[in-house]
Amino acid sequence: MKLEPSVRDSIEIVTKCGIVPVPPKPGNPQVSHYNSSRQHILDSVDLSLSRMGIEHIDVLLIHRPDWLMNADEVVETFDALKASGKVSHFGVSNFTPPQLALLQSRMPELLVTNQVEINPFNMGVLDDGSLDMLQQARVKPMAWSILAGGRLFNEDSEQAARIRHTLQEIADEVGAQSIEQVAYAWVLKLPCEPVALLGSGKIERVKQAVESAKITLTHEQWYRVWVASKGHGVA
Ligand SMILES: NC(=O)c1ccc[n+]([C@@H]2O[C@H](COP(=O)([O-])OP(=O)(O)OC[C@H]3O[C@@H](n4cnc5c(N)ncnc54)[C@H](OP(=O)(O)O)[C@@H]3O)[C@@H](O)[C@H]2O)c1
Repeated sequence: MKLEPSVRDSIEIVTKCGIVPVPPKPGNPQVSHYNSSRQHILDSVDLSLSRMGIEHIDVLLIHRPDWLMNADEVVETFDALKASGKVSHFGVSNFTPPQLALLQSRMPELLVTNQVEINPFNMGVLDDGSLDMLQQARVKPMAWSILAGGRLFNEDSEQAARIRHTLQEIADEVGAQSIEQVAYAWVLKLPCEPVALLGSGKIERVKQAVESAKITLTHEQWYRVWVASKGHGVA
């Protein structure tokens, strides 16, 4: 963006706030924690704007549910950020359905996403209602760690071996270039229409991920990955 400022108009910038990291240091008892107070959100936005050298953020997410979150305070802060032109839209990340519903209940406009972990190692969001709630509201989740942060390739466990074997089997059936393409296709088949987050900065891997949008798994193939993950069939 520094080299070519017009790039800003062709992208959407999504950033998060709410985690206060405190690196462990001898003699310092303080711990990393969550903070979704007005002051913390406002300070985080200002820091993000100055770090990126931009005037506004397209989407701001609250990174983790904060047990001390005051929904009224958060929404008032969102309103102030919108009025100032610093942030256009708001969302959350890793929120359970009741946590999302609480914040949403105070807002006239929709939270635009819940950024959640979806991969064959972590299928909790399939069962806890998160994705159903988003589909009901026609809101797309952002899916993080689709490749389980790399565990898909290097974890040494029976479950990982089953998942890799099945993804490779399906890759051969659909003519995919790699198991990661099948992992992306598996997430993209979900009817809530997730937006895929990529963790690799390697251009070849990014290209493969983009290509995976052309792959459509059958219902049976999708469930084969589910069975490989669980280690048992459906009831
Ligand atoms: N909301 C949240 O709480 C939360 C939490 C975690 C992440 N996120 C977001 O989600 C994004 C993606 O998460 P993630 O980084 O966990 O993504 P990921 O795509 O699941 O994992 C990326 C890792 O997989 C490795 N990898 C990719 N292809 C590979 C291959 N063919 N063989 C071996 N290793 C391979 C990458 O290595 P290379 O770098 O070498 O390609 C990288 O270390 C993050 O950037 C972040 O924005 C959000």
